[in-house]
Amino acid sequence: MTDLPPNDAQGLPARAAALDLLTAALSRRAGMDEGLTHPALKALAPRDRAFARALVMATLRRLGPIDAALQSRLAKPPPERVVQILRLGLAQVFGLQTPAHAAVATSVDLTAADKNSRPLKGLVNAVLRGLVREPPALDDPELLAPQWLYARWRAAFGEAEARAIAALIPQEPATDLSLKAKSDAAALAEPLEAEILAGGTLRTALRGEVSAWPGFAEGRWWVQDASAAVPARLLKLQPDETALDMCAAPGGKTLQLAAAGAKVTAVDKSAGRLTRVNENLARLGLSAEVITADAAQWGGARQFDAVLLDAPCSATGTFRRHPDVLWAAKASDIAGLAAAQSRLLDAAGRRTRPGGRLVYCVCSLEPEEGEAQVAAFLSRTPQFARDPIAPGEGGAPAASLRPDGALRILPHHRDGGTDGFYIARLVRAE
Ligand SMILES: C[S@@+](CC[C@H](N)C(=O)[O-])C[C@H]1O[C@@H](n2cnc3c(N)ncnc32)[C@H](O)[C@@H]1O
Repeated sequence: MTDLPPNDAQGLPARAAALDLLTAALSRRAGMDEGLTHPALKALAPRDRAFARALVMATLRRLGPIDAALQSRLAKPPPERVVQILRLGLAQVFGLQTPAHAAVATSVDLTAADKNSRPLKGLVNAVLRGLVREPPALDDPELLAPQWLYARWRAAFGEAEARAIAALIPQEPATDLSLKAKSDAAALAEPLEAEILAGGTLRTALRGEVSAWPGFAEGRWWVQDASAAVPARLLKLQPDETALDMCAAPGGKTLQLAAAGAKVTAVDKSAGRLTRVNENLARLGLSAEVITADAAQWGGARQFDAVLLDAPCSATGTFRRHPDVLWAAKASDIAGLAAAQSRLLDAAGRRTRPGGRLVYCVCSLEPEEGEAQVAAFLSRTPQFARDPIAPGEGGAPAASLRPDGALRILPHHRDGGTDGFYIARLVRAE
């Protein structure tokens, strides 16, 4: 059970902040990240801030079934502020196990705190009390994802796979760690209460402040989902080879390439996000050349032994940690991102030396951003061919390997869940 702010006026600022954060998360892509930096949220006491964030995450993880339950009780849609208050109220009762009387009372207070919503406090009280008395079913996979996304997954992977993907949406994921030195795994597994996964990722049972966990201050590991750690391993870097990480920030894969002993160039168009790469490199005691540039237009003609393109994407595969991606994404975003991926893939091809290898990956579940990108690139770029990934290579789950040697990692392919990814390895002719 989440540590709760008290059920009195002091609990209201946290809930009011959750209301703003939920509104931001649902309004646009990256709205959640922007909302988390909002001064009103930052001004809260740490415990209230943590509660506000946990409440919004719990709401987003069950948003589909929550909305279905609300629709069954509302004759017509109330104003947006009231909808958000009702969503947060239900998530407190059914996601955070907040005592029902506290969730209802604070929701009513929040409704009364604004003159426009005040007249609807009776409605909020009645709807929440009704649903507390007759709890709705909140785990139907077909309701857990937005309908348009669920339909896409069913078309791409089949009904059973779509259900298995969606069934993971309400689950809070464990944290995965990548190690600077693979030989450290046995020594770190015990203090980190971790299981060692195929490929060497540690999956820890620890919760809370990451920087307090054993080995963080000494730079022995960094946080990286088990699937996200696969692409860099597939480049099989030898010490002193040159490697280009084309969309590098915040740097999880850059760290892997540098830890493998390669001479790494890390490019990203976001200077702000690159500060995270530099901080991470410094903490880990690793080095890389870090460049702020649009990787599709970056000047010069340098070529590399190995190129990694972890392209900007809809990130629908990361819903376990970022449930907002499901609700903020729009079908039109996918088309726009696919155009950028195609441009970046052409640039990645030009940056790969003859005989060199190129790994393309996206943390998206959408075929337009994965399979279709690589197929189109190969048909317009005859110098490149697939370099099929072998079973188990890079620690990838067996179920993820496709007949063409690419990986389509689905979130349920690993016990306890994993990020969804598409990964292909290509080689340029000599
Ligand atoms: C999926 S994230 C990369 C994650 C990173 N590889 C890691 O493992 O930590 C995509 C990144 O692409 C960057 N990006 C988007 N368009 C870009 C472009 N045209 N050139 C370079 N970077 C770009 C974004 O700023 C973002 O940091």
